Amino acid sequence: MTDRLKGKRIMITGAAQGIGLAIARACAKEGASLFLVDLDAGLLETEAKALQATGATISYAIASITDTPAISAAVERAAAEIGPINALINNAGVNVFHEPLETSDAEWQRCFDINLKGAWNCSRAVLPGMIGQGGGVILNIASTHAFTIIPHTFPYPVAKHALLGMTKSLGIEYAPKGVRVNALAPGYVRTQKATEYWNSFPDPIAAEAETMKLHPGGRIATADEIALAALFMISDECPFMNATCLTIDGGLSVLHHPV
Ligand SMILES: NC(=O)c1ccc[n+]([C@@H]2O[C@H](COP(=O)([O-])OP(=O)(O)OC[C@H]3O[C@@H](n4cnc5c(N)ncnc54)[C@H](O)[C@@H]3O)[C@@H](O)[C@H]2O)c1
Repeated sequence: MTDRLKGKRIMITGAAQGIGLAIARACAKEGASLFLVDLDAGLLETEAKALQATGATISYAIASITDTPAISAAVERAAAEIGPINALINNAGVNVFHEPLETSDAEWQRCFDINLKGAWNCSRAVLPGMIGQGGGVILNIASTHAFTIIPHTFPYPVAKHALLGMTKSLGIEYAPKGVRVNALAPGYVRTQKATEYWNSFPDPIAAEAETMKLHPGGRIATADEIALAALFMISDECPFMNATCLTIDGGLSVLHHPV
């Protein structure tokens, strides 16, 4: 364990698996105290206990980021158990992928409730405390879907574009109060979500191979590689980075077209 993140009390949403869990593990190793939030009670309890066993200061709440009162209560509990939150990572998110005209109102609502409103619920719950402490940092896990489009993935990219808008908006609004708000845009990352995406094709193995072929380096990211960037962005190593977005996609979004 090092003390690169000593003094950081970080709330991480969607922390029970995938990118959120990788970020939690990386932050715990660097000396942060963590408050983990996820819907999945079984997974969250297992992973939180495993992190506690490494000696890290970990507390957690089983809650949906869409549940405003539950999130407010969780932030209060976090303050009592690990101290007032001074860093928030809005990571929880879901793929809602449809052909636009086949998207039901319920699916539109689910997408925006989780991928956009959920991040706002958590930001709104921690911001007064951060402002009271003289500053803090919020990191929104967006996606390359925040500025590029894959057909038939509607309305997920619409929500991720909006998450980028919220990042800029809150970053500008609260810079005078010492709060930095940034986004991280991963491309494809090897998690459960990526597997589900390939499984949605008639030939999942061929779909995965196609994805690899798209990438200049012939592979996609690991969750640990995304965590390394997240760690830097919430640390005090980039104090003037605000209202911006860092892309981690192995160069995919810069490629004019696959060769
Ligand atoms: N995996 C990728 O390729 C990829 C690429 C770009 C961006 N992202 C983004 O990264 C983030 C994490 O993705 P992942 O691949 O690790 O996902 P994942 O499905 O592996 O994990 C997401 C976690 O969030 C939790 N969660 C879902 N809805 C929730 C809610 N309403 N309240 C609380 N917790 C909830 C789930 O229980 C799960 O533990 C998401 O915002 C996603 O959009 C993922």
